[in-house]
Amino acid sequence: MKVLHGISLEVLPGEVVCIIGPNGAGKTTLLRTISGLNRPSAGAVRFRGVDVTGSKPYQMARLGLGHCPEGRRVFQLSVEENLVTGFIPGRGKSFAALRDEVYDLFPILGERRGQSAGRLSGGQQQMLAIGRALMGSPELLLLDEPSLGLAPIIIHQIFEIVLKLAESGVSIILVEQNIDLSFQVADYVYALEHGALQCSGPAAKMAADPRIKDIYLPDLDAPS
Ligand SMILES: Nc1ncnc2c1ncn2[C@@H]1O[C@H](COP(=O)(O)OP(=O)(O)OP(=O)(O)O)[C@@H](O)[C@H]1O
Ligand SMILES: [Mg+2]
Repeated sequence: MKVLHGISLEVLPGEVVCIIGPNGAGKTTLLRTISGLNRPSAGAVRFRGVDVTGSKPYQMARLGLGHCPEGRRVFQLSVEENLVTGFIPGRGKSFAALRDEVYDLFPILGERRGQSAGRLSGGQQQMLAIGRALMGSPELLLLDEPSLGLAPIIIHQIFEIVLKLAESGVSIILVEQNIDLSFQVADYVYALEHGALQCSGPAAKMAADPRIKDIYLPDLDAPS
């Protein structure tokens, strides 16, 4: 089934790009296409200027792509074992160095390193899912709805980390349904609807765009 139609998206080093759009818009499909989990029927994926269309997920990971999936998908293993699953040898840093970086970013994970991931709270599981993606030392990190179902204070902590990662030079594609949050952290925003790009632009410009309201609150303008 064709889900995405003619979408073109670009991310520069250290940039936070947000993809927003209602349920079923195609946001997850787009991320899965970038990371090689879905193969596009047309179009191309280029990473650092190289055509990587059709590459397998493990090949994309080796090139420096990290994917933190929708729903976290942590494994029923200990916290540290989950980090082991994300480690990709040969990307420059050792397992121990990357693990310590993750525990510095998320101290609670270090405290719970021997605990089963299934016993963590939702927010801690989200941190673990991000940490696992960081174990591949990514240059581009895909985050699929990291705020979903979490308390505002935890969301705030996670978004602080997102900004910190971007400042350190990691490029980020963030899928979000939380519009306010998206506009706070993004450099650039793409709005999807029905698998197509409705509008895109710098976050400040998009925040004032009436089309955003039309996508999210369409009934407000409809005749009663
Ligand atoms: N494997 C699949 N097979 C068939 N249809 C699919 C598949 N995956 C997604 N779809 C369909 O593609 C469309 C886009 O789905 P997708 O999960 O990408 O949306 P989304 O924007 O991530 O939504 P949400 O906000 O609910 O996560 C939906 O209509 C969905 O039903
Ligand atoms: Mg989705």
